[in-house]
Amino acid sequence: MRIILLGAPGTGKGTQGKFITERYKIPKISTGDMLREAIYSKTKTGIIIQSIVREGRLVSDEIVCNLIKQRIQKKDCINGFLLDGFPRTITQALYLSKIKIKIDYILELIVPYKVILERISGRRVHPQSGRIYHIKFKPPKIQDQDDLTGQSLIIREDDKKESIIRRLKEYKNMHNSLIKYYIQEKNIGNIKLFKICSTDSVSVIHKKIKDILKK
Ligand code: AP5
Ligand code: MG
Repeated sequence: MRIILLGAPGTGKGTQGKFITERYKIPKISTGDMLREAIYSKTKTGIIIQSIVREGRLVSDEIVCNLIKQRIQKKDCINGFLLDGFPRTITQALYLSKIKIKIDYILELIVPYKVILERISGRRVHPQSGRIYHIKFKPPKIQDQDDLTGQSLIIREDDKKESIIRRLKEYKNMHNSLIKYYIQEKNIGNIKLFKICSTDSVSVIHKKIKDILKK
């Protein structure tokens, strides 16, 4: 099963992605997580992209396509994978088809702007594992501490107001052409595409996704 999770920043891709990968035993491949990891480890790519990610701009297609190509060649992708945050541009979408990656499902999470801001502004993350919390909707057992390790939770560098605005703008700029492309793909029977209203609780959205993936 090969799935793409689309959705604006803060719509719950990481949260739902975790559930999907646990349930279907496929790896979650998040370009955002991979880029943050590169920044954290100060790799050559990490150093190049640090300020781009911090400011909420898009990293070049070349860098992210290379990351994806290397990642999906790994053994654990043999039975499928979930892409979170990739593709974000038409070039990236076409790249998948160029390297002959056939996608089964595209799930687009839809959440209104106001809810997105509430979600992102309360988000806390455990950078070492990528576990995601929210101060109101998914608080850790102990404030500012990861449930499993007790290590500190942080606010993502790109969760500052100016970066959020920039990220939402970037998303809006790219979204129309990307979704148009996938609607065409759906119409010729190449993929299954579903839009999911994602304002409900995490578990209700889990259920919606579960039902869709049976189709
Ligand atoms: P990325 O890490 O992909 O960030 P994003 O797309 O902006 O999405 P987020 O991770 O902010 O949100 P999410 O949808 O995962 O929501 P979450 O589950 O955390 O990318 C970061 C940056 O990397 C980009 O800006 C760009 O610079 C670069 N990049 C990445 N991919 C790239 C690409 N392909 N090309 C170029 N550049 C790229 O949920 C949010 C919060 O809400 C959490 O606190 C969560 O607990 C809470 N929550 C979730 N669901 C619910 C719910 N149902 N009810 C209540 N609260 C909820
Ligand atoms: Mg995410």
